[in-house]
Amino acid sequence: MRATHNPYNPGAGVPPRELAGRDGLIEQARVAIVRAKAGRPAKSTIMLGLRGVGKTVLLNTFEAIAEDNGCQTALLEIDPDKPLAQQLAPHLQHVLHRLDRLKKAGADLQKAFGSLQAFAAMFKATVNDVDFSLASPSATGDLIIDLTDLLVAIGEAAKKRDTAVVLLIDEIQYIQKGDLSALIMALHKISQRQLPLLMFGGGLPQLAKLAGDAKSYAERLFDYPPIGPLDAAAARLALTGPAAREDVTYTADALDYLVEQTGGYPFFLQVWGAHCWDATAKSPISLADAKKASATALAALDEGIFKVRLARLTERQKAYARAIAEFGAEPVHSSDVAEKLGLSLSQAAPIRDELIKKGMAYSPERGLIGFTVPKFDEFLRRAMPAKKPGKAPKPQ
Ligand SMILES: Nc1ncnc2c1ncn2[C@@H]1O[C@H](COP(=O)(O)OP(=O)(O)OP(=O)(O)O)[C@@H](O)[C@H]1O
Ligand SMILES: [Mg+2]
Repeated sequence: MRATHNPYNPGAGVPPRELAGRDGLIEQARVAIVRAKAGRPAKSTIMLGLRGVGKTVLLNTFEAIAEDNGCQTALLEIDPDKPLAQQLAPHLQHVLHRLDRLKKAGADLQKAFGSLQAFAAMFKATVNDVDFSLASPSATGDLIIDLTDLLVAIGEAAKKRDTAVVLLIDEIQYIQKGDLSALIMALHKISQRQLPLLMFGGGLPQLAKLAGDAKSYAERLFDYPPIGPLDAAAARLALTGPAAREDVTYTADALDYLVEQTGGYPFFLQVWGAHCWDATAKSPISLADAKKASATALAALDEGIFKVRLARLTERQKAYARAIAEFGAEPVHSSDVAEKLGLSLSQAAPIRDELIKKGMAYSPERGLIGFTVPKFDEFLRRAMPAKKPGKAPKPQ
């Protein structure tokens, strides 16, 4: 069928033509946003899920809902190499400018701008056009205290203007150690004061860096809806919805096959859908078309995504990843992986940590390790067929 009319959108953060199976989550977010805007208590949310399940698309959707409801939004994707303060400051400045436009600057907004200025100076963040004549309470250099002061000042300014501030933070697992605790402590204060400031986060399913007080606050402060593959009905809709708009349908057996092949993972549904489109001469898309498409889709994933990810690994990381893959798709005990490699737990632990740091693997709970990209285990078994036992990599 005509490539120019292919209705599928495989790609990071690219909105699908049919956002299937997420109505409940979107409604929950809408309720929280409307409540916050009306000055009612509302809970922040952290969406945790593997690569390609649609976290970014949801954050963008929530941003649009917040804007439609008259909230002030800041959406940022965390850069693992920068402190949180430097990343947040310019966004918060933007929010303050927008609050400023809602009503003539009052003392509260001056205070918030002053806090931002002190915060930016203390944490070496770049913000533009700061008016240095503003009253500036000095920052302490303790991120917990300074971020709390700043967010409280912003929340109070938003409250006075009958609006809410909605922070949307993507790749939240990359927030540096300590910074995440500070953010949580600051949001805890916001919630105690019932200020209209909400956060939606998205990230890989591990927030193991949290410790102590921050952890216990975080457990109560946020909802953590797991974002996983779509159920069969939603997966079918993700395929049929976009096609229907181009007057194209699928046969029932083709759909069953595609749901099974993709495991209902949103990114894979887009990839497989796009390949079905290319493999089909005319509607309906049949089982034979779907099978052809599945072969080309897998080859494209191998070339385009999996090989690139594998190439980013050192030899010992590859060996570790291959050992995880031996156990299948679900997270496995790192002790089993170490044993498979003929290494002690302490020899294997640094390699495991490297894989986590590179975003290749995650630890859903202590002692477990799994891949962040679905189907990566299958790829590794294809790309690196099992060798005869006996040769373990030397620890470095
Ligand atoms: N509910 C959905 N229905 C259909 N397609 C979806 C859905 N959610 C996301 N997609 C598609 O899946 C792909 C991945 O979405 P997105 O980039 O939001 O995932 P992600 O979870 O943020 O992934 P990553 O962890 O790699 O950033 C995109 O092509 C998007 O169009
Ligand atoms: Mg994303």
